[in-house]
Amino acid sequence: MLGKGCLVIVLVASIIKNVFCTIDILDLSSKNAVWTVTNKNGSLFLPATVPGGIYSDLQNVGVIGDIFSGFNDVLTRWVAYDTWTYTGKFNVTEAQMEAKTAHLVFYGLDTVAFIDLNDSPIGSTNNMFVRYLFDAKNHLKVGENVLKVAFASPIDVARTLSEKHFTAPKCVPQLYNGECHANQMRKMQASFSWDWGPAFPSVGIWRPAVLEFYNGAIIRSITTFTEKQNMKWHLKIKAYLESDRTRKHIVGYLSAAITVEGKQTITVGKDVDVQTRDDGTVEVDINMVLSENVIRHWWPNGYGEQQLYDLKVFLSTKGNKDEVSEKHLKIGFRTIEVIQENATKVLGNTTAGQGLTFYFKINGYPLFMKGSNWIPAHILPERGDDRSIVDGLLSAARDAHMTMLRVWGGGVYESDYFYQKCDELGILIWQDFLFACSMYPAYTEFLNTVKTEIEQNVIRLQHHPSVALWAGNNENEVALRGNWYNTISQFDRYKEDYIKLYVDTIRPIVTNLDNKEYAVSSPSNGIKSEQEGYIAQNPYDPHFGDTHYYNYLADNWDMNIYPQTRFASEYGFQSLPSIATMRTATTNPEDFKIDSEYSKHRQHSPNGYSYIEEQMKEHLNLDPSDPKYYEKFVFYSQISQAMAMKAESEFYRQGQADWYTMGALYWQLNDVWQAPTWSGIEHGGRWKLMHYYAKWFFAPVLVSPRLLLSGDVNVYLINDRFVPIVEAQIIVEVFNWSSLTPIRSQSYSADVGSLTAKKQDIKLTMWNDNTGETFLRFTLKAPGVVSSPYNYVFPKPFKTVTGLREPRIQINVSGPQGPGPKFYYPVDIKVDTVVLFLWLETNKVFNEHHTGYFEDNGLIVTNPYIRINFISKETLSPKDIEAAITYQYYVN
Ligand SMILES: *[C@@H]1O[C@H](CO)[C@@H](O)[C@H](O)[C@H]1NC(C)=O
Ligand SMILES: *[C@@H]1O[C@H](CO)[C@@H](O)[C@H](O)[C@H]1NC(C)=O
Ligand SMILES: *[C@@H]1O[C@H](CO)[C@@H](O)[C@H](O)[C@H]1NC(C)=O
Ligand SMILES: *[C@@H]1O[C@H](CO)[C@@H](O)[C@H](O)[C@H]1NC(C)=O
Ligand SMILES: *[C@@H]1O[C@H](CO)[C@@H](O)[C@H](O)[C@H]1NC(C)=O
Ligand SMILES: *[C@@H]1O[C@H](CO)[C@@H](O)[C@H](O)[C@H]1NC(C)=O
Repeated sequence: MLGKGCLVIVLVASIIKNVFCTIDILDLSSKNAVWTVTNKNGSLFLPATVPGGIYSDLQNVGVIGDIFSGFNDVLTRWVAYDTWTYTGKFNVTEAQMEAKTAHLVFYGLDTVAFIDLNDSPIGSTNNMFVRYLFDAKNHLKVGENVLKVAFASPIDVARTLSEKHFTAPKCVPQLYNGECHANQMRKMQASFSWDWGPAFPSVGIWRPAVLEFYNGAIIRSITTFTEKQNMKWHLKIKAYLESDRTRKHIVGYLSAAITVEGKQTITVGKDVDVQTRDDGTVEVDINMVLSENVIRHWWPNGYGEQQLYDLKVFLSTKGNKDEVSEKHLKIGFRTIEVIQENATKVLGNTTAGQGLTFYFKINGYPLFMKGSNWIPAHILPERGDDRSIVDGLLSAARDAHMTMLRVWGGGVYESDYFYQKCDELGILIWQDFLFACSMYPAYTEFLNTVKTEIEQNVIRLQHHPSVALWAGNNENEVALRGNWYNTISQFDRYKEDYIKLYVDTIRPIVTNLDNKEYAVSSPSNGIKSEQEGYIAQNPYDPHFGDTHYYNYLADNWDMNIYPQTRFASEYGFQSLPSIATMRTATTNPEDFKIDSEYSKHRQHSPNGYSYIEEQMKEHLNLDPSDPKYYEKFVFYSQISQAMAMKAESEFYRQGQADWYTMGALYWQLNDVWQAPTWSGIEHGGRWKLMHYYAKWFFAPVLVSPRLLLSGDVNVYLINDRFVPIVEAQIIVEVFNWSSLTPIRSQSYSADVGSLTAKKQDIKLTMWNDNTGETFLRFTLKAPGVVSSPYNYVFPKPFKTVTGLREPRIQINVSGPQGPGPKFYYPVDIKVDTVVLFLWLETNKVFNEHHTGYFEDNGLIVTNPYIRINFISKETLSPKDIEAAITYQYYVN
């Protein structure tokens, strides 16, 4: 009879057929072990969840309330000042005790922890991004065992370290209600607060903990490299093997099997007989050659399929028990390069042609990267891999035609699930290493833990086809050059530390383990920053690398304010979350005012509300005595943000023609609480107007006009497809605000090559009208182009136009259509005049029972009749949907 966990394995590419047991892994999560947690003085003693964290545990038993409610970020801060000890009890069997090796592995401890096993200290930790392994062999016993993990207060640790190794800044701004010196700890930097988020200085066993029992060796990780040569794909696999520190010798058989097109499985195998390093680790290569006929390329979203292939790697070892360790990955075949070459090559001997390009070439094609910046999915790291949140956000990115997200340096290396999902959806990842908006220490112990962190995480993530680039840090080059933290008197010291950390320590690790681009900082001038000693004179030089751009003072709807760039990796503007989302944080009517204590508490951006208000006031009328002032403020802030990001994103896409701009990643995709922030998606998953607009401003084919200061209009045609657009027509219609019938219309011939943007040879001759009474609508008619959104030029601010009036709106819902799992309910909308920003919602009662959403929203309605869809996972009554619909729009 086969023992538990044993199976008959036909070892691929060999004749060996044998009974092998899989490695016995005892999961120490709450499923198998009984966990409790207690504070320093023992006043609290409660059941705990592993993986998990202290805020989740305290919330589960009701010691603290909903952490997102009201002022709870500050009211619960005592939690982070206390110390917490997690105690786990679990049983070990006799068979397990017979294994030669018993390793206790923590995939994530947050952060400074002391570990005891059956009352013997076995080690300590100081980096939440590192996997820790402890030899447990001599501490375990048959029957019940007790594991204790005692966490120090992160606030105390950071302060104590800072006393010894002070590194600027002194603290975060006071209005963050945050904590100081996050830069001293290898911990999610945003858990001490950010300008978009609260401080929850967490502690806990945030990722799985296991005991590994075996006699031979295991495969810890796999990296893969794919290279195309002479009609063949060369797949190089590196297996990171691990054995016992006392044996230091691995004998066995390593094999790999990949399932390719036609469900064929191709296998290779080889004998292994190797000495390990002192720590029991060693790498073994195993290579495969695959005909290109059996492989399809992996493409980013919108450019082709996201074909993934199953790769399984086995290590079998013989002994008193034959064992097999298995790793299963899904890999993709694609090439990726970052091209920094003389820009005159693409732009000629022009001003734009000075400097270097900065763009991604995927499978040999230069692709413009459309997307956003990802902050952690949840402020509590243990909740960051919540699949429903990750799925919702990543599919929203996919739906808005995004090809790239930048996993920003103040968060975490996301879960395997996150990157798998990106692989499936075709979302490339610009991965920052986790250093953000600070100077960082560079003493030996600090550098040593960073080394381990970088090694482990590059090895873990490297094989994902979605991972596109590594960047050393977020904004630390510009921060030092720009003296953000008053470092000027110690510029040389900080520069030296900077080079030690990102150049001398991190870079060689990354380049040894992977072949993808490593950018020392983001933003930076790329190669040019390196030539200037890593701290460039002007890291925002538009002729080099990537840039970040924020301007809260100028009119953000005006494309003329934006500087050119090769690659915009951050830009944004704030808005408020919807009232519905805010109600999940407070229901006190007094809070729903811009100057309430609650509102001030949630706004971490200095002068944030006044910037929002000033932007709104440029374009929209809002009367302070309006009884719906606050509701309108919220709605208008979202309009303002959406229009600003539309202008800026289209400016960068147009810049593909003029400046070889090749990326637009706005700040920020998501939110961690209900607050005014730069996000397009609210905490809880509701889309703001901006995310709906991203669907349009990132559309693969787009007519994009630019109103110049002179009053002239340039017209660009943008084409993110592999085929050119020829013999197309751009129809320009002049509308009077008072009518749905255009007063004039003219058609222009248009064309654009593949994967590019082109300024059209169009001189708009229809520009003699009173511009306060009119606007322009642009439509594309092109063979082979199925859909391309309308675009508009609004020559005068809405607040000053005449003819815009209260509409009559009629809405009918029918359906459903579609076989499920999603049901589509056509929503027919009839209007009698132009409607601006028609924003549809379903009321609260309806939402509590059903989950559904509008496919498009914030509509600019310039036709008497339009149809959109309401999408739901359940079948609903169309009449109920109709009755639940409420709407807003803008009118002077
Ligand atoms: C024990 O710790 C808790 C939480 O930090 C605190 O509220 C309480 O006052 C302490 N009790 C004693 C007796 O010190
Ligand atoms: C360990 O085994 C004993 C005896 O079967 C049982 O009473 C106890 O609940 C087990 N402990 C855990 C943590 O599962
Ligand atoms: C580039 O243009 C400038 C001014 O038009 C000219 O002086 C220069 O010689 C040109 N350089 C090259 C390399 O063609
Ligand atoms: C690009 O090439 C031109 C012409 O050869 C040269 O003048 C210029 O210095 C080069 N630019 C860079 C950044 O290397
Ligand atoms: C727009 O319509 C209004 C009302 O019909 C009319 O008075 C005005 O002259 C029109 N303006 C233009 C530029 O056609
Ligand atoms: C809605 O239905 C009514 C009654 O059938 C019909 O008169 C009206 O035209 C419909 N409206 C829309 C927007 O389809």
